[in-house]
Amino acid sequence: MDFRARLVSWEQIDKWCENIREKVSNSYRPDMIIALARGGLVPARVLADMLWIKDLISVKTEHWGITATASGKAVLKDPGNLNIEGKRVLIVDDITDTGQSMKLAYDFIMKQKPAEVRTVTMLHITRSSFIPDFFSEIVDEKNWAWFIFPWNVYEDLDNLLSRVLKGRMTFTQIENELKDQFNLNIDSSLLSHILDEFRKAGRIVQEDHTFSKPPESQ
Ligand code: ADE
Repeated sequence: MDFRARLVSWEQIDKWCENIREKVSNSYRPDMIIALARGGLVPARVLADMLWIKDLISVKTEHWGITATASGKAVLKDPGNLNIEGKRVLIVDDITDTGQSMKLAYDFIMKQKPAEVRTVTMLHITRSSFIPDFFSEIVDEKNWAWFIFPWNVYEDLDNLLSRVLKGRMTFTQIENELKDQFNLNIDSSLLSHILDEFRKAGRIVQEDHTFSKPPESQ
């Protein structure tokens, strides 16, 4: 098994944010927060609240490729002029994994003459070429996993399911494949709810007790 996926709870997000709030507030007083969309949007909003910061904007980085390939090259999407000259900025993302998104955003933001910049992520993987000033948890690259954050459950499970589904499969087979291929233990009632939502959205087909991909995506 070389690809692990881990579901992250809202409670865990709250703990990570609380932890980085403490680290940041001990040594830096930002005027504003820049969220790296999309992964950094929710942590940035939570941190803005915890640090009493109302000036919150975002910059979007995009990757070529799909969830969990981690192969894509990062690009900034139409960032424009941010009006951050002379400001003390905190850049927030969910994770530094390859470090490409953060590096790209950091270099772009530095060119706009802020007074100071610090970077923060909830998780930092040791293989990353960019080390944020603050992070809550460090993950050894030997323990690399795809973290399924609570704001990305549908998108990530859609991708994982499309890799798991071969022909017609039962609920139990899907559960077992997610476990075998991705080491993913997902609560049966959550999986059942999600499969039902995917069926309603036309992303999977259910016949009797089996599931398959819709004909056009096979
Ligand atoms: N974005 C980039 N790397 C990631 C990972 N390992 N888990 C979740 N989101 C990511």
